[in-house]
Amino acid sequence: MVQNKSSSTAVLDGPRELEGKRVVLTGGSRGIGAAIAERLLADGALVVTTARTAPAETPDGLEFVTGDVRTPRGIQAIADAAIEHLGGVDVVVNNAGAARAYPAGSLAIEPDEWQDALDVNFLAAVRLNAALAPRMIEQGSGAIVNIASSAAFDVPGPMLHYGAAKAALIAYSKGLATELAPHGVRVNTITPGHVASPGADEVREGLATAFGITVSDIHATVPIGRIGRGDDIAEAVAYLVSDRAAYVAGANLVVDGGEQRRP
Ligand SMILES: NC(=O)c1ccc[n+]([C@@H]2O[C@H](COP(=O)([O-])OP(=O)(O)OC[C@H]3O[C@@H](n4cnc5c(N)ncnc54)[C@H](OP(=O)(O)O)[C@@H]3O)[C@@H](O)[C@H]2O)c1
Repeated sequence: MVQNKSSSTAVLDGPRELEGKRVVLTGGSRGIGAAIAERLLADGALVVTTARTAPAETPDGLEFVTGDVRTPRGIQAIADAAIEHLGGVDVVVNNAGAARAYPAGSLAIEPDEWQDALDVNFLAAVRLNAALAPRMIEQGSGAIVNIASSAAFDVPGPMLHYGAAKAALIAYSKGLATELAPHGVRVNTITPGHVASPGADEVREGLATAFGITVSDIHATVPIGRIGRGDDIAEAVAYLVSDRAAYVAGANLVVDGGEQRRP
């Protein structure tokens, strides 16, 4: 699951700046979330993650809890299981996200799909942060990273439910950052562009087929010349939750290979 062996080795050779940090990460079973889990574990963090389906393998030290982030009950169960395992929390990474594309356009998106998109891409983070942030406020320290998407800024009709939910996540994160910073809790957002992952690859393939283009055509829109890797996002997370980012709160770190699909 390590997607870039050389950068992982470099991490292991360096100081373990997240030693003992207790991390709750959603969607860590594959894709970007799995890369985040590996990166934070390599730096000494203790990581609990969740997804609806358990991965075939988990890296050493990763605690996996099966759960669904779309409901308040699911979130509470995940938060309870994480606290039971970790004894507290220093870092929350809201990474779980998903959406089905509607090539016919946004007016074809079913009402239930709108609700689903809001639940998994926006309200899951709101609810998990509400469940765990009071502990961080009480201890006077903590870091929250919410994973958004460049779809929030340049929203294609087939993914309007997803882009709108991610836009809400960015606005919410900014407000929460202002509210929690005086308590020593830093809230930041990461906005990935195109990143290779099982879920996103499937969406891109479906859209490319529907519009008579190839996935390579989509990748060719990235100025840096390649699609992103999970490691690219994981590195940004590792920075934002570390003391190197001690003065960073309310930021939206765009990691998109220069696509600049943002205001
Ligand atoms: N890859 C990209 O190009 C890209 C670009 C911009 C933003 N992002 C964002 O990056 C994050 C990670 O995406 P990814 O590309 O790595 O996607 P992915 O390969 O589909 O992985 C998504 C992860 O979230 C979990 N998940 C999805 N729905 C869930 C639910 N209801 N409850 C619990 N866990 C759930 C999945 O596991 P289960 O399905 O087993 O539950 C999986 O672990 C998402 O927030 C996504 O919106 C990705």
